[in-house]
Amino acid sequence: MTRVVYVNGRYLPYGHAAVHVEDRGFQLADAVYEVCEVKGGALVDETRHLARLERSLGELKIRPPMTRRALAHVMRETVRRNRVRDGLLYLQVTRGAAPRDFAFPAADVEPTLVCLARSLNVAKRDARAEAGIAVITRPDIRWGRSDIKTVMLLPACLAKDEARSAGAEEAWLVDRDGFVTEGASSNAWIVDADGHLVTRQTGSAILAGVTRATVMDVLHTEGISFSERPFRVAEALKAREAFITSASGTVMPVVKIDGHSIGDGTPGKLTRLLRSRFHQIAEISRF
Ligand code: PDD
Repeated sequence: MTRVVYVNGRYLPYGHAAVHVEDRGFQLADAVYEVCEVKGGALVDETRHLARLERSLGELKIRPPMTRRALAHVMRETVRRNRVRDGLLYLQVTRGAAPRDFAFPAADVEPTLVCLARSLNVAKRDARAEAGIAVITRPDIRWGRSDIKTVMLLPACLAKDEARSAGAEEAWLVDRDGFVTEGASSNAWIVDADGHLVTRQTGSAILAGVTRATVMDVLHTEGISFSERPFRVAEALKAREAFITSASGTVMPVVKIDGHSIGDGTPGKLTRLLRSRFHQIAEISRF
């Protein structure tokens, strides 16, 4: 079946879906996005994703393209028309198309909204989670507002490509003081040498992950304590367990960092518990 993409009010065949060449998302990365998991035909943690989208738009003073209710309808319709059961929904909002100028265009320029949904091979993802993934560490060369989910992703793409070349799946980004900020497209967690769960605190250096927040809900329900603090690569190498969180992989065990095995080199017990409990606690929007 031809995949369908929503672009500015129309559902178009994949091959015909396009935005203007002077769209500010294309020319200036003047745009924000969200990636939401689709599981069993339902949206996972929709409310948190829409809240974060609104925050990102607000921080950049981009006008919301429509109400939250209308957006929720577009998201459902996109999933439905593409017959996605398990996969991802991608949503992007740009400041719109206008003659190229660094200064913002007039307030009446319509924001661009693109929404697409695609199926994921869940069996493949689960197999990866069974084995665990390798990560490498790279300097964090992104801008100072990584809390805003912008499409300005070139530093993340470079880090991810280096990871792939090194036989790893993800790159953990390291700030100037030697502390891990987060993954190129995920949040980073460790269970330290004392068995305590740690992830970096939110702030301008990391994206406040939706999966991260829901994992914290799981931890509260299970009565498991955790700390939000920075940790260095050296501490991560001595960790008992490590994992990453993102909408595309939920809780994904990390078994190798820069070639060093973590714990016994297999996914840790707490990591596996969090992965198995995640969808029991996450918001599931059936429709
Ligand atoms: N990435 N940090 C960064 C830099 C990210 O790009 C992402 C998500 C996360 C995790 O956020 P969440 O749990 O809300 O997915 C953290 C998405 C999946 C992507 O760009 O494909």
